[in-house]
Amino acid sequence: MEMIDYTMLGRTGTQVSRVCLGAMTMGTLMDRDESFRTLDSFAEQGGNFIDTANCYSWWVGKGENVGDESEAMLGEWMHARKNRERIFLATKCGARLRDPRAIRDADGNPRWAEVPSNYEGASRRVILGAVQDSLRRLRTDYIDLYYVHVDDRKTPLEETLGTLNELVASGVIRHLGYSNVRTWRLERIRALCERNGWAQPIAIQQEYSFLRPAAGANLGVAVHADGEFFDYLAENPSMTLLAYSPLLKGIYASREKRLAYYNWSLYDTPDSAARLERLEVVGKRLGIDGNTLVLAWMLHRKPAIIPIVGGSRFSHFRENFAALDVRLDGETMDYLEGRSASA
Ligand SMILES: NC(=O)c1ccc[n+]([C@@H]2O[C@H](COP(=O)([O-])OP(=O)(O)OC[C@H]3O[C@@H](n4cnc5c(N)ncnc54)[C@H](OP(=O)(O)O)[C@@H]3O)[C@@H](O)[C@H]2O)c1
Repeated sequence: MEMIDYTMLGRTGTQVSRVCLGAMTMGTLMDRDESFRTLDSFAEQGGNFIDTANCYSWWVGKGENVGDESEAMLGEWMHARKNRERIFLATKCGARLRDPRAIRDADGNPRWAEVPSNYEGASRRVILGAVQDSLRRLRTDYIDLYYVHVDDRKTPLEETLGTLNELVASGVIRHLGYSNVRTWRLERIRALCERNGWAQPIAIQQEYSFLRPAAGANLGVAVHADGEFFDYLAENPSMTLLAYSPLLKGIYASREKRLAYYNWSLYDTPDSAARLERLEVVGKRLGIDGNTLVLAWMLHRKPAIIPIVGGSRFSHFRENFAALDVRLDGETMDYLEGRSASA
């Protein structure tokens, strides 16, 4: 397997690995051994960019997890490997639940509809507390990239961004990121930071994959990177897109996986059918499966998009990083994206 290349994050001058490792399942679906094995392998391949949040993954299980687990696992790993300074560590605040145990039904399952109204949000009080809790769990005194996890429209942006700017000024946070944020809000955020001379977000984390949701699809608080967003990015090269759920939970592996995906109805369109067909043609020709091909396609998009690669076991990560070895020429990219009719 090839070593992982590096790319610049926005215009920061900071180089990060071309793929980011999503640590959402670590400490819950993945135990210590499986997590360490995955992290070690990523680091050995030259990867340094790791993504977590202060709420991963409270929803796993029947109430035994609260959202500390992934950060704590990463903290333990960096402590054991003594490699904190070699890691570019991203975490998030704002989508932790005020009380993750109170939001379950009698069977212990999350009451998903109530989740957004139970987010802690991005007020000054929450951010200042959350950052300290994350530092403690991560066993570090700085965070390379700190995201607002879900845009909080109830807290004035001045409060959120002014507080984050103080944390940047004091060196606790190196860079700012925003996740699940609409383009018009992002422009407001950027303009406000510019007006005040505050640190601006340089990483935007949105859902993004090869299939596109139906026009007007309701993804809840999640924001899928769309044409409007890419147009905005083209004018704002100081921001880089971090693509989360790049495999839409692994749906490119099989039809069964697609039908089982909780959001499949939002993606089940003629556009998706055509895209899946083209994916199959290219996958067969190259002898690779749909998940690998989707990640390879994403790695060939310009300007650079950084996929956040996820999985619930080591083998997923190993298979997904094989995408780094796949070369797609211009004609194949055109075919996959429907700009030409022949593969
Ligand atoms: N900002 C946000 O709001 C947000 C939201 C979600 C995720 N994220 C970040 O993005 C990262 C990735 O997100 P994600 O986990 O949703 O990504 P994803 O790539 O869309 O889904 C990962 C899931 O796909 C399946 N999968 C992955 N590789 C596979 C393989 N090679 N073969 C078969 N199945 C495979 C597994 O499902 P099974 O477990 O069912 O087998 C795995 O858990 C997370 O770790 C997190 O850091 C951010």
